[in-house]
Amino acid sequence: MRGSGQDPLQISSSPSTPSETSNWSGLAVVVGMGGIGSAVADALTLHCPQLEILRCSRQGHPQADLAVDLDHPDSLDGFQAALKADGRPLRLVFNCTGRLHGPGLTPEKRLSQIQRPALLEQFSINAIGPILLAQAVEPLLQRERPFHFASLSARVGSIGDNRSGGWYGYRAAKAAQNQLLRCLSIEWARRWPQATITLLHPGTTDTPLSKPFQTFVPADKLFSPARAAEQLVRVLLEQQPEHSGAFLAWDGQSVPW
Ligand SMILES: NC(=O)c1ccc[n+]([C@@H]2O[C@H](COP(=O)([O-])OP(=O)(O)OC[C@H]3O[C@@H](n4cnc5c(N)ncnc54)[C@H](OP(=O)(O)O)[C@@H]3O)[C@@H](O)[C@H]2O)c1
Repeated sequence: MRGSGQDPLQISSSPSTPSETSNWSGLAVVVGMGGIGSAVADALTLHCPQLEILRCSRQGHPQADLAVDLDHPDSLDGFQAALKADGRPLRLVFNCTGRLHGPGLTPEKRLSQIQRPALLEQFSINAIGPILLAQAVEPLLQRERPFHFASLSARVGSIGDNRSGGWYGYRAAKAAQNQLLRCLSIEWARRWPQATITLLHPGTTDTPLSKPFQTFVPADKLFSPARAAEQLVRVLLEQQPEHSGAFLAWDGQSVPW
């Protein structure tokens, strides 16, 4: 794991030099074409020239190659069937989906604002979706082939780091995602020893998800999606099977559970 003293933008300062491109090859599936997901697909294209990027989104995104809705089992079944039919060796799945707010969904500030439907929605997309995505791709893994599964979590999902409270459903759902994928990392270490699972905190990034909550974020602490993606890809490329199950921030530092 890298120390925080390194320049977090080194990879983007001269991305074409050989030391900053990776030899990962095969199919890279990026799920979620939101602010960070679209930028992650672009960063992988730049830094991993041997990867073939498959962009996945819910119906209707102009950049998407394949549709998948993590809330719907039929959609996940269709996604799995499409990957099997595709036949290319799967090298990476990067889950960039998530939800903090939306129609009828506002992060709770106090106990009285907690509502069952909102909690269920938070858990469905931020916790259950990622583990079912892993379940959907597992049949494509091969024991001797390196494979990375990365998923965007959030520092606010850290229980040990929770000093300000609030955002009950989102925090709890991200903590649940962390536990689900940590469990999976232990199972996969036995079954798929070349697999590496990484939970990533992107830092506060200027996307529709964070837009309503940016008022008090200093400009130098708000990443562009491109910068966040560069940083995330650089951290991901350093991960090896012995690191599987880590929860890392954009600068490579561990985040407390
Ligand atoms: N932005 C930040 O400051 C920040 C900070 C910490 C962590 N994160 C995490 O980073 C991840 C990406 O966030 P973002 O900032 O890029 O947000 P975003 O721009 O709102 O993108 C979120 C994406 O999730 C997709 N999505 C939602 N429900 C889905 C479902 N059921 N099936 C498939 N896709 C679904 C959305 O698809 P549609 O476009 O079809 O709705 C959208 O593409 C999230 O997990 C978020 O919690 C973000």
